[in-house]
Amino acid sequence: MKTFTTRREIREYLSTQNPANVGFVPTMGALHNGHLSLIAQAKSANDIVVCSIFVNPTQFNDPKDLENYPRPIESDIAKLEQAGCDVLFNPAVSEIYDNNEQWHLDIGPLEHLLEGEFRPGHYQGVTQVVYKLLDIVKPNTLYMGQKDYQQFMVVSRMVELLSIPVKMVMCPIEREPDGLAMSSRNIHLSPADRQHALILSKTLNWAKANFDSNNIPNLQQQAMDLLKTEDGVQPEYFEIVDGETLLPADKNSKTIVALTAARVGKTRLIDNMLIK
Ligand code: PAJ
Repeated sequence: MKTFTTRREIREYLSTQNPANVGFVPTMGALHNGHLSLIAQAKSANDIVVCSIFVNPTQFNDPKDLENYPRPIESDIAKLEQAGCDVLFNPAVSEIYDNNEQWHLDIGPLEHLLEGEFRPGHYQGVTQVVYKLLDIVKPNTLYMGQKDYQQFMVVSRMVELLSIPVKMVMCPIEREPDGLAMSSRNIHLSPADRQHALILSKTLNWAKANFDSNNIPNLQQQAMDLLKTEDGVQPEYFEIVDGETLLPADKNSKTIVALTAARVGKTRLIDNMLIK
């Protein structure tokens, strides 16, 4: 695997290779099997797979979260080598941002609902960094996880608004055998919280199983109540919405998704499930 830390070097390398297809998997590192499933999917359809590891400061609304974000770069490199990733881009913050750089993209209602309400400014930081990374890597296809469902919709909106010539592929959520969605933040869970965290996927499964026999406001309320019964769990939202707009679902919604976020101990977790 080739590793680059500057934009100039990775650009030079990719333009001399001149591959027919580049697949790109942006990450913040602390890689787990969820990330590696994206690499595998990209490998199956591209000549070159590029992964980026960049803990993007502009998308963290909580400075403590940024400080505590895990950065195990050596083991990440070993995992990428093993997964057959071709190129790693691992820049420093100063390689990506000038001081006091400004960014604003109007992404409409997606900005303020669900995650947007609890993490103000988060999606401005995400679109800012993904825009820059796409401009550097210029991939044909961008692979992102369903795990961050709203993020996928936000980036799709940006790609559409700015006419960025890239195809987006949503990859399924990888879970632990007991149902917990894999996340770089799971390592912060104490053994007890690790057990309590199972209530997120259990509640999503419960909502899916009861969808046909209930109305949405009822289901949402009961799901919030279920989440609250678990020790150490403070739910932030549980919403069942249209899978494309993330606005309230109706009979015409082609896809319906349930999304939830909760604090489990000191760790904030998100999860979601397609219901229809
Ligand atoms: P990060 O949280 O490292 O996630 C990188 C990619 O892996 C995202 O597309 C995410 O949805 C996907 N992913 C995470 N957990 C997954 C799981 N359990 N199963 C499948 N895919 C999973 O998301 C980010 O980084 C950042 O916001 C980023 C897009 C890199 C911009 O900074």
